[in-house]
Amino acid sequence: MSSSNPYMPSMVKIIDVTEETKDTKTIKLTFVDDEVRNKFSFKPGQFNMLTVLGVGEAPLSISSDPGEKEYFSHTIRRVGNVTGAITKLCVGDTFGARGPYGNGWPMDKIQDKNILIIAGGIGLAPLRPVIYSIKNERENYGKMEILYGARTPGDCLYRREYDEWKKIPHTRLLLTVDSVPEGMEWEHDVGVVTLLFDKISLNPTETAVLICGPEIMMKFSVQKLLEMGFKDKDIYLSMERRMNCGISKCGLCQIGPKFVCQDGPVFSYFELCNLTEKIF
Ligand SMILES: Cc1cc2nc3c(=O)[nH]c(=O)nc-3n(C[C@H](O)[C@H](O)[C@H](O)COP(=O)(O)OP(=O)(O)OC[C@H]3O[C@@H](n4cnc5c(N)ncnc54)[C@H](O)[C@@H]3O)c2cc1C
Ligand code: FES
Repeated sequence: MSSSNPYMPSMVKIIDVTEETKDTKTIKLTFVDDEVRNKFSFKPGQFNMLTVLGVGEAPLSISSDPGEKEYFSHTIRRVGNVTGAITKLCVGDTFGARGPYGNGWPMDKIQDKNILIIAGGIGLAPLRPVIYSIKNERENYGKMEILYGARTPGDCLYRREYDEWKKIPHTRLLLTVDSVPEGMEWEHDVGVVTLLFDKISLNPTETAVLICGPEIMMKFSVQKLLEMGFKDKDIYLSMERRMNCGISKCGLCQIGPKFVCQDGPVFSYFELCNLTEKIF
């Protein structure tokens, strides 16, 4: 999306809506303007600023396959004004979007390595494009293990895709939930996502780790990974901060000297440790 005014959104139209959980939807979008649609591309881990006129703007990760050129998706949890307004819209409705912003996951740097994906809750959204990218270019990466934790089975995102993910060559998917409501079937683990770490089969020295989820989950994950021998330079985290401009102008998202909107949202743990501000 390009415009002389960097804050000017382009109009997008909803072409599909999938209910993921009771408070989260995946919304498939296409640009109304053909030229904008043809120019748009994104890297896994990048985000857009979504704009609802009269309500506001919010940063949302792009959650679709970067190889798809006709459309892109956002997986949105309803928490407040903007996310509430967007998740009320229907197929055919329009609103604004500008982006893509941020650095995204370091897909070039992690080529040829094994990939360990660790996600909690809505944190799977910015990692779904990574899974698609690896599927599309399977020969460029080593083994992939995906560890995903959610509150309950009903809170797991993208359940319809798990069988397909497990069929990607050299890929394992391990799931856990905090609790299982009575009467609900669940054949996977119960407990926090770090409980799955005993099942990781990847060699720590040949593996890049990509993590996104609540900060408390990222903190305990990193601690345990370091104990297991994973290196701080190979552990990448997507950081969530309140944002306003998305283009390193307002300073709202700063961590020390870094702008999460532009220098991030993805940082290696090594980078985060060298910031002046303590992260977690
Ligand atoms: C880079 C990035 C990527 C993101 N990707 C996704 C995504 O893919 N899907 C998704 O559902 N959400 C994502 N988020 C979070 C999303 O931006 C916030 O939930 C959204 O801005 C809330 O806006 P709102 O107007 O709906 O809520 P508001 O009305 O502004 O606030 C409602 C409540 O949410 C809290 N809140 C608002 N913004 C944030 C924030 N950034 N972090 C923590 N709490 C916040 C407020 O303090 C308040 O309690 C992402 C955030 C960032 C920074
Ligand atoms: S959101 Fe304004 S500087 Fe990052």
